This record gives sequence, structure tokens and C-alpha cells, in this order.
Amino acid sequence: MKRILVTGSVGQIGSELTPRLREIYGNANVIAGVNRTQPTGELKESGPLAPVDCTDIKQVDEVVKKHKVDTIIHLAAVLSAVAEAKPHLAWGVNINGLYNVLEVAREHECAVFTPSSIGAFGLSTPLDNTPQDTIQRPNTMYGVTKVTGELLCDYYHKRFGVDTRGVRYPGIISSVTLPGGGTTDYAVEIFYEAIKHKKYACYIEAGTFLDMMYMPDAIKAAIELMEASPEKLKHRNAFNVTAMSFDPEIIAAEIRKHIPEFTMAYEVDPVRQAIAESWPNNMDDSCAREEWGWSPDYQLPAMTKDMIEKLTKKLNK
Ligand SMILES: NC(=O)c1ccc[n+]([C@@H]2O[C@H](COP(=O)([O-])OP(=O)(O)OC[C@H]3O[C@@H](n4cnc5c(N)ncnc54)[C@H](O)[C@@H]3O)[C@@H](O)[C@H]2O)c1
Repeated sequence: MKRILVTGSVGQIGSELTPRLREIYGNANVIAGVNRTQPTGELKESGPLAPVDCTDIKQVDEVVKKHKVDTIIHLAAVLSAVAEAKPHLAWGVNINGLYNVLEVAREHECAVFTPSSIGAFGLSTPLDNTPQDTIQRPNTMYGVTKVTGELLCDYYHKRFGVDTRGVRYPGIISSVTLPGGGTTDYAVEIFYEAIKHKKYACYIEAGTFLDMMYMPDAIKAAIELMEASPEKLKHRNAFNVTAMSFDPEIIAAEIRKHIPEFTMAYEVDPVRQAIAESWPNNMDDSCAREEWGWSPDYQLPAMTKDMIEKLTKKLNK
């Protein structure tokens, strides 16, 4: 990775991954692709910006040519809850947008990182210790686009030699940018509400286990996979990666160790609950561990402590 374009750079992952890439590869070498939401702060100040709507292939092509990009970190997407409300938009961005990025990558010989998701699984998948290679029959538009995306990326690698790589991210927990409308957003909202109001109404039912990961590990996964030597990769799109698995009761109990007055009630949202129930309880990420040395740094206690410290500072400002 020498000249990197990040699409969707203003989103939850991009707003932290882009500055980290700039630290490693040099500010001038990491172009933040911006769609509608304008970046602010460090992301805006620290390096080049370019308008990139991934559904506009000409725009993607021009930016890649102009900046001599060799790697596209393709984060632009419509997330699970929004995709259920707007399935046509989700197909347009998640599939047509990805196709455009792959075509431009083929033409200009770029490597491509595309995150897939735990949403790429469905009810017929073994939901405990979910294997790397298993049944993938999701029943959500998000899931359909993620499985299609995995297949398309593998096809571009096999057929055209494009260096495509990806991970199946679990729910990502972070303190900088709020999540963009996914099913696991509760695990971020709970921290804001615990600090601000000492109470939270959770839209996911007690007993619903999902894989989760703290942002520093999500960033590490993307960079380490892209830096891994290709001959070691038996899989490409996309690797199971996880750091922890919990249900709302477990994270609430962990938060109570720091904020003893915190209480949680349930106002279950049937749409997001149904999505959550179709996703793994916990994934087996041994292929990522074996093929490129994946190992997360944060478990629930360390993540909770860090989130509360960072958010308390942020919210007191
Ligand atoms: N955050 C998570 O918990 C999570 C979990 C699993 C997978 N992922 C995947 O990681 C990737 C990044 O997710 P995120 O959480 O940062 O999402 P996000 O919603 O926070 O950010 C996505 C960004 O894409 C932008 N975008 C939307 N349409 C666009 C278009 N046509 N052209 C260019 N940009 C466009 C949005 O404005 C937004 O800034 C996605 O592929 C997502 O499916 C995220």
C-alpha cells in the first residue's frame, strides 16, 4: 500500500482508519473519499480529500488516475437496518458501487479491501462457532449484498488477478463517529446513554449473543490483512474475525462496574431483533489466525474501560 483511496471515509470505520493509514503511510498518500457528509477535524485537515460517489464509475476512475492510487479501501456502504428500510439504495451502493470499484481496480491494477459482515450469514448457518466456510443464506438485503460482494471479490481475484481481500467484521464499537444504522449499534449507544443519563432502553433482547470488536482491533485487522503476504492466504473474501461475544445483559453488567447506578430496560425493535437472531452467536476466526496472524488486543473489560474514559472526556467537552 503506497497510495491509498478510502471510500466512505467519513463513516464509523473510515473516520478512524483513514487517520491511522495517514500516520503509517504518510498524510499525502491517503486520499479520503467523501460523498455527501463533509469531513471535519483531523480527517479534513490531515490529508487530501476527493469527492467519491462509488455509484459513479467515472468519478472513481478519475480519482484513482489523478492520485495514482494503488489500493482502494472500500468502506462506502449502506448498513443493515437502513438496508432493510431502503433495499434499492442498498443494492445500488453495496453492489453497483462495489462493481465500479472492482472494475476501476482491474483497469488500474489496484488492490481492494472490502469489509463483509456477520450479516453474510443467516438462520441456516451454524450460529455457534460459525465456521469460515459454511452455509450462507442470509434473509436480509444487507446480507444478500454482503454474500454477493464476497463472491464478486473472489471472482475478480480468480478471473482478473485483482488483489482483493476482506474480513467479516462483527459489530464495531467506537467512540469517535456514531455507527451508521446497523443492528449492533446498541453496543455503542449504551455507552453514550450510560454516561449521559445512567439508563438505556435496549432494542435487542436479553440473551441475544453477537460477535463484537473494538475499533483499534478493526483497524488492525484491515491493515494486517492488506499487508499479509499473498502466498499465505488460502481464503480472501472474506475472513471471519472476532474479538468478543456478548448479549445486552453482559455488556450492561460490565458498564455497571464503572457506573454502578446504570440501569437498562428493553424496548425491542422487531426488525433489528429478527436480523440479530439470524446472525452468529460467535464465529470461529481460526483461518484468519492461521493465514495472517489475526489476534485481537481488546476483550470486553479493556474495551469497556477505554470507551468510558474516552466518551466521558468527549461528552464533558
Ligand atoms: N460498523 C460496523 O459495525 C460494521 C460491521 C460489519 C461490517 N461493516 C462494514 O464496514 C464498512 C464500513 O462501515 P461503517 O460502519 O464505517 O459504515 P458507515 O455507515 O458509518 O459509513 C459508510 C459511509 O459510506 C458513505 N456512503 C454511502 N453511500 C455512498 C456512495 N454512494 N458513495 C460513497 N460513499 C457512500 C456514507 O456516507 C458513510 O460515510 C461497510 O462495508 C460495512 O458494511 C461495518
